Amino acid sequence: MKGKNTTTLTKILTIDPSHPEIDKILEAAKIISDGGTVAFPTETVYGLGANALDEKAIEKIFTAKGRPQDNPLIIHISDVTQLQELVEDIPQHAYILMEKFWPGPLTLIFKRTNKVPDRITGGLSTVAIRMPAHNIALELIRHSQLPIAAPSANTSGKPSPTNSSHVMNDLSGKVDMIIDGGNTGVGLESTVLDISGDVPTILRPGGITIEDLLDVLPKVEYDKAIEMSNENIIPKSPGQKYKHYSPDANMIIVKGNVEEIVKKIMKLCKEYEAQGMNVGIMATKQTFDKYENDNILVVGDRSFPETIASNLFNVLRRFDEKKVDIIIAEAVEEKGIGIAIMNRMKKAAGGKMI
Ligand code: TXA
Ligand code: MG
Repeated sequence: MKGKNTTTLTKILTIDPSHPEIDKILEAAKIISDGGTVAFPTETVYGLGANALDEKAIEKIFTAKGRPQDNPLIIHISDVTQLQELVEDIPQHAYILMEKFWPGPLTLIFKRTNKVPDRITGGLSTVAIRMPAHNIALELIRHSQLPIAAPSANTSGKPSPTNSSHVMNDLSGKVDMIIDGGNTGVGLESTVLDISGDVPTILRPGGITIEDLLDVLPKVEYDKAIEMSNENIIPKSPGQKYKHYSPDANMIIVKGNVEEIVKKIMKLCKEYEAQGMNVGIMATKQTFDKYENDNILVVGDRSFPETIASNLFNVLRRFDEKKVDIIIAEAVEEKGIGIAIMNRMKKAAGGKMI
């Protein structure tokens, strides 16, 4: 076991996401098959990958991230035939979901085989699996000829990384390689859907919405623990219980119709500034010119909420670079992808909303 202060030499490798260069993919794949760690882009956020069948390699992920030991990892595959050794039983509706949404931002929870190391599942009898829709991720999995375990490539508790500089800030000197493959697209982590029980249940909302799922399934439920107000309910997805996506600054969300939001934010901003605080405002394309503050960042366009999803984590990190004391953020409408956006925002704000 390496000492706490031991640093690893981290190689940075730029790969073209539309035509990944084969020699570079092979170099990264060799690190995976030799038991090392590689951060790579997916269509959701960057992941920190290691051989999913190698306990020692998986341990390196937990150490680099400072991740709680009981929080299980998602296994990434490039071909459905890889399910065979990982999954005990594939329910009928899983085929429909995989056909429609893979590759893509949907993680499925299956009953697991004994081949899956306990280190991955945190001792659970289930395993999370997804096939990412990203050329670099898929080529890396194919050429390592292994399933790759990968949580988001951030320090545990920080916002997930949506470009390689976010990863470098958190994990330089702690992992063997960081692939720079540009910005990720969706910007929020995958939807996690538990299909190991009777009714498919969303454990974490994401890019694939409940409406998308109900197009192909007769019934889908949300895990009751998703709502922050349900503090007494133990989440089925261990990751949901941790403070997450947190910027260094405090954050408060302001909800209402757009006019009310702007008024409330202007008032709050004055109050905080009077207390000597450095205030950041997370605005939208529709509202940014209404504020008179130095630290306004536009997260996206209310008419196209996917732009907000895509930029949210980057904006949270930029507020930290600006060293604001408090972020006042506009709520978005909780429908479609807005449910996932608000889920991450509420976690970043520790539930503070007015
Ligand atoms: O988009 C994504 O899913 C990204 C990219 C890199 O693929 N990955 C990601 O991984 O977000 P991570 O580790 O940050 O989040 C995985 C979530 C956690 O909330 C974890 O508790 C949950 O999935 N999870 C993993 N295995 C599970 C299981 N067997 N049962 C319930 N929840 C599980
Ligand atoms: Mg994560």
